[in-house]
Amino acid sequence: MKSFINVDDIGRLDKALAEAMEIKNDRFKYQCLGKNKTLLMIFFNNSLRTRLSTQKAAMNLGMNVIVLDVNAGAWKLETERGVIMDGDKSEHLLEAIPVMGSYCDIIGVRSFAGLTDREYDYAETVLNQFIKYSGRPVFAMETATVHPLQAFADLITIDEYKTVARPKVVLSWAPHCRALPQAVPNSFAQWMNAADVDFVITHPEGYELDPVFAGGARVEYDQMKALEGADFVYAKNWSCPGVTRPDDYGKILSRDMSWTIDRSHMAVTNNAKFMHCLPVRRGLIVTDDVIEGPDSIVIPEAANREISCSVVIRRMLEAM
Ligand code: CP
Repeated sequence: MKSFINVDDIGRLDKALAEAMEIKNDRFKYQCLGKNKTLLMIFFNNSLRTRLSTQKAAMNLGMNVIVLDVNAGAWKLETERGVIMDGDKSEHLLEAIPVMGSYCDIIGVRSFAGLTDREYDYAETVLNQFIKYSGRPVFAMETATVHPLQAFADLITIDEYKTVARPKVVLSWAPHCRALPQAVPNSFAQWMNAADVDFVITHPEGYELDPVFAGGARVEYDQMKALEGADFVYAKNWSCPGVTRPDDYGKILSRDMSWTIDRSHMAVTNNAKFMHCLPVRRGLIVTDDVIEGPDSIVIPEAANREISCSVVIRRMLEAM
């Protein structure tokens, strides 16, 4: 595996899930694989789960780990070409990337969408420069349009908790006070489309996800109708993806609090498990009683980030 961005990069999902279970049963089974190998994790944005779970996964595999917070201690990086660098950015990404590549064997990149220029974000401009110029295998730790380590962990969690062979999984938009990227719902949709589940997306009009990720997934604009009989409720906010409303890319279109997942929403489901990638804003996305309730699986879902990442790094090490 040379890069991990989309669901296709992982190949057959049943095989990937089997590898995940193998690693979950013995996290240190492949400890020799990473000996004298170094993972470089590069963060342009904040993180709790990705930072900790990725470092843990690499350590389980015997790797050394370097973490670089670009905006806290490193030179500020220019990402555009053709600019006169007379501002606060002292180094260009095109020099920084090969230098970083010379110090490591695998690179993980976190670089969120700016939400002002759809074309720039959806071209995955920063991530693709790492792939092109680092000379190393690269995996996404949430980039402008995707968060595959999260989606893989979500799939593992659904596989562990499902009680029927083909569960109904509902991705529900929920309100938020800030404009958030579409990376998590994009990847979740892409992975659920590839998995053997009955997948439904619900959101207010204008929040249609890019077809590259949403594929042929069923969209139901009536949230309560979408949630009927659900086995899993995956709540998430995202800003306007700019598909049906190009001029509104990255904007908040709705603050409708009736979309907040509360007990009345969960009541119409098939005793659904509640999921969210975290961090989550209580009172906006979900009520306290739902996220603290017996059907909330947000903690094991987050714990599975270590497992999804272990599978990905292991495959990259084995491909060297
Ligand atoms: N879910 C997730 O990626 O969490 P962090 O932003 O804390 O890494």
